[in-house]
Amino acid sequence: MLSDKPDIASLSLDPVSHVLSRKVDASCTVSHDGINSLLENEHRHLRNIETRKASDEKTLSELMAPGPSSRPLRQIETVKSSECLEGMISPSIRSAGTPRAGLPSFEPHPMVGEAWENLRRSLVYFRGIPVGTIAALDPTQEALNYNQVFVRDFVPSALAFLMNGESEVVKNFLLKALRLQAWEKRIDCFTLGEGAMPASFKVLHDPVRKSDTMAADFGESAIGRVAPVDSGFWWIIMLRAYTKSTGDHSLADMPDCQRGMRLILSLCLAEGFDTFPTLLCADGCSMIDRRMAIYGYPIEIQALFFMALKCAKLMLKPEAGGKAFIERIDKRLYALSYHIRSYFWLDFQQLNNIYRYKTEEYSHTAVNKFNVIPDSIPDWVFDFMPMRGGYFIGNVSPARMDFRWFLLGNCVAVLSSLATPEQSSAIMDLIEARWMDLVGEMPLKIVYPALEGHEWNIVTGCDPKNTRWSYHNGGSWPVLIWLLTAACIKTGRPQIARKALELVESRLSKDGWPEYYDGKLGRYVGKQARKFQTWSISGYLVAKMMMEDPSHLGMISLEEDKKMMKRYLSRSASWTF
Ligand code: GLC
Repeated sequence: MLSDKPDIASLSLDPVSHVLSRKVDASCTVSHDGINSLLENEHRHLRNIETRKASDEKTLSELMAPGPSSRPLRQIETVKSSECLEGMISPSIRSAGTPRAGLPSFEPHPMVGEAWENLRRSLVYFRGIPVGTIAALDPTQEALNYNQVFVRDFVPSALAFLMNGESEVVKNFLLKALRLQAWEKRIDCFTLGEGAMPASFKVLHDPVRKSDTMAADFGESAIGRVAPVDSGFWWIIMLRAYTKSTGDHSLADMPDCQRGMRLILSLCLAEGFDTFPTLLCADGCSMIDRRMAIYGYPIEIQALFFMALKCAKLMLKPEAGGKAFIERIDKRLYALSYHIRSYFWLDFQQLNNIYRYKTEEYSHTAVNKFNVIPDSIPDWVFDFMPMRGGYFIGNVSPARMDFRWFLLGNCVAVLSSLATPEQSSAIMDLIEARWMDLVGEMPLKIVYPALEGHEWNIVTGCDPKNTRWSYHNGGSWPVLIWLLTAACIKTGRPQIARKALELVESRLSKDGWPEYYDGKLGRYVGKQARKFQTWSISGYLVAKMMMEDPSHLGMISLEEDKKMMKRYLSRSASWTF
């Protein structure tokens, strides 16, 4: 949907002024707080490892060993809180430098330098300051809206910059998006909720007046006219990553940022006719921004919702109504994790239970609560499900279970601790057991399996971009490597990420950093894939930097809430083995 929108105006990028050199920063990217939780992580990883293969054991302890990659603590930057957002935006870093090199155990891969160069080239400037990265810089194809800064696409760029100690562009982006949130958003005669964040924005340069203006898309220009539900969640997650990485709480503490968070929360915590704690969504409201039958309660959004709630809880201040939101967040987190852990979870045992479900049950004693008809279980799931392993299925709503695997939702569930530690390990087991299906020759399948024939016809509305094993319909997206790598490190399975990274390194740069690959094994460069797709580039860098220094994981990972765990253990154990 969003991707096929006609261009508003071309964005003139001056290749020279847009190349920023990498700041070589030897300071640490975690606070004391972060170190404590990392130590905790390390202990947990080491416990997990005991049950795992010897090769993994060795790799993890190598990775976690204090050594050349442990760096001194970053000094906490202090920034004054201000109502004036423009005044907060930092000028760009224009220091000279090269990618951090010389860590003895990690000889930088030649692709790393090339990736940094490309990432810097993708920076977009507003009145001289960097505010984001362009979606793709492919000179051979029509830009459409790939010349815009997408909120979701900027996430791996933001993480790469933070991991490299370059936080200014991230702060600028967060403040810019906040400004855009304040715009009035209309589709025909209808006004969108105040809290909605744009899917993307664009800087329009007027060479005559020498002025820059902004244009944003909240769904009102997108084909299909769908608002991006994920943008606000990613914004909160990035704000927390920024805070965690820099130790600078003043940005999140600003009244404007607090208000921005509350507005997003008002949208997703609003009361209505819901009987489930999950968030009801339209098709096309996330990374999969075209009709792909993710409407209802897609795992991609539910996992981001959960993570954003947890991040907001860490940053919200009690003033100005914040306290009431913190209480609502607590209740929702509890209900949401109970619901998803219980009803979205599928493993061999649970599949067998569903297969034997009775239907038409009534009252509180019903086992088959959503009246799922066993005949609706697709044949492929029976072969796909390994004896060891499991995952959160794509969607659960009345009489409908979408059994498809979605990588983003499952990895975000691991990172946010929406998945229990057992479920997280089972997700990793599944990836290993179904390697050819989920990773193939080029990581990673966005969704598995593809819709074909009549089903494709009905579900996608005959979408020629989403033919089987292409694009959103079973295509392979290199950007997802950063999510897999983070989940692997969190679960103590770095060997899985290493194998996937080897595949990426064998082709991605040679193929010109495509947006996606096609085919059952992801062997072919995507039919309509853009080259020099920024998040393919930054996703690779983030994965590499996390492998090099697993302490970066703290930016994007959240620990399990022990109090909440105790509450459920007394209620149900249906998701445990
Ligand atoms: C496509 C993708 C979307 C992405 C955009 C820009 O529309 O589906 O997820 O944000 O391109 O790269």
